[in-house]
Amino acid sequence: MKNLEGKVAIVTGAGRGIGQQIAKVLAERGAKVAVVDLKPEWCAETVGIVEAAGSEVLALGCNVAVSAEVDACVKDVIAKFGKVDIMVNNAGITKDGLLMRMSDEDWDAVIDVNLKGTFLFTRAVARPMMKNKNADGTAAGGSIVNLASVVGIMGNAGQANYTASKGGVIALTKTTAKELGSRNIRCNAVAPGFIQSKMTDVLSDEVKKAYMDTIPLKRFGTALDIAKCVAFLVSPEAEYITGQIISVNGGMIG
Ligand SMILES: NC(=O)c1ccc[n+]([C@@H]2O[C@H](COP(=O)([O-])OP(=O)(O)OC[C@H]3O[C@@H](n4cnc5c(N)ncnc54)[C@H](O)[C@@H]3O)[C@@H](O)[C@H]2O)c1
Repeated sequence: MKNLEGKVAIVTGAGRGIGQQIAKVLAERGAKVAVVDLKPEWCAETVGIVEAAGSEVLALGCNVAVSAEVDACVKDVIAKFGKVDIMVNNAGITKDGLLMRMSDEDWDAVIDVNLKGTFLFTRAVARPMMKNKNADGTAAGGSIVNLASVVGIMGNAGQANYTASKGGVIALTKTTAKELGSRNIRCNAVAPGFIQSKMTDVLSDEVKKAYMDTIPLKRFGTALDIAKCVAFLVSPEAEYITGQIISVNGGMIG
């Protein structure tokens, strides 16, 4: 299925995990992909994967929490590919701890990357997306997908900073959809449940079993489960979907 042919995508946190898989699936569907991580060399493996999928790729180093770096990154993408159609705000971190013991630094770090980073890239791509035109001169707009989390909906003990950041991402997604809808820019979020990844590998077997007990489909999710949902949301198939939070969690919450 090459339903993203001619599109240009930016994926943050693309060096590994869910972001890497998103870059792969978007490339397989025909999009050119700018893969962004803290250091460009961290994207070396992803570059190979996108190229193997037969697409063009640009690797960029950028801290999503730093405004000037984000603006420069979007400029570099436009210099190379001429436009931005798809923005996937995937970069995210955790710094878990009970809230009574959580340091200001751990609070700020997680909010800065997960929430502010999503805001900064959304702001930076909004104007370029507004300039995108269809062949008949109508607004082609663009599509933004933010990575939220099931715990941004439910809350989770030990993750005050992370859950607040993801709850913020959900509200930001809805606001972005309202502000930019008239320019044909759609914005949705994917809220993954428990996804096998470096972020969740560190959890104890006991915690993993407790999660499994809550999943009706009786398996943990994969990065591919998330990437397929992102690819749908940015495709023409989803052209009337905006402001939505799509849970991809094996039925973890109703
Ligand atoms: N893994 C899960 O179970 C799960 C569940 C719900 C939501 N999510 C969300 O999905 C997204 C991806 O998660 P993952 O499991 O692949 O994480 P991961 O830790 O494997 O990968 C995150 C990537 O983001 C990059 N990154 C971190 N800080 C950055 C910054 N300041 N600027 C640029 N890049 C930065 C990292 O270098 C890394 O390559 C995150 O937003 C996460 O919160 C994951």
